[in-house]
Amino acid sequence: MHKLAHDYLSSKPEFSDFLPTLRGAPQTASGNPELGAKNAGDVVASIEDVRGGASNYTKELVQRFLENHHDLDWWNAYKEGDPAGKGMVDRTAGCLLTGEAAPFSAERGCAGFFYLHPNVEYSAHAHEPSEIYVILSGRARFWDDQAGWREAGAGDIVHMPSMIWHAMETREYPILILWAWIGNNLGKKPIFRDNEGKLPQ
Ligand SMILES: [Fe+2]
Repeated sequence: MHKLAHDYLSSKPEFSDFLPTLRGAPQTASGNPELGAKNAGDVVASIEDVRGGASNYTKELVQRFLENHHDLDWWNAYKEGDPAGKGMVDRTAGCLLTGEAAPFSAERGCAGFFYLHPNVEYSAHAHEPSEIYVILSGRARFWDDQAGWREAGAGDIVHMPSMIWHAMETREYPILILWAWIGNNLGKKPIFRDNEGKLPQ
């Protein structure tokens, strides 16, 4: 899985800043990531749904992902009461490939997969590390406080600079994302802009 992610990121020049998060990371003892609130095995029971939403460019990686995802440690990033948005607690799952307590260590970044069911709202949040979402399957609407709302889908890359407010919403499709953070304070959870977890207009 690590090699697949590395090969994919290597194939696009836009990822050059993020490759150090994946290159040459020595294997460390696995454990529960700091971000993981609880096991998300129930959420990923439907993950085969992402097979049909890949683009020509991402299809092979999605196929290999589906063959191997049982080896990944899936978790819910948020808990009841967090203002993260509709469905974030019980209809999303994430895993870490690199970073603290993940199978591979990296000094300056962390990366993993993120799976969201349809009709999920991820409210406006911010974090110090700069972030990319590489969309492997599906489509969603993405927002940040500079560009506003726009739609992106399989094969697209969404970049969130450090501390920018950003949000997203899935509608009729599930989405599978390869995400990476680079920067400082990698173990710190995002902060939220709206106490009630509402999406920006
Ligand atoms: Fe983010």
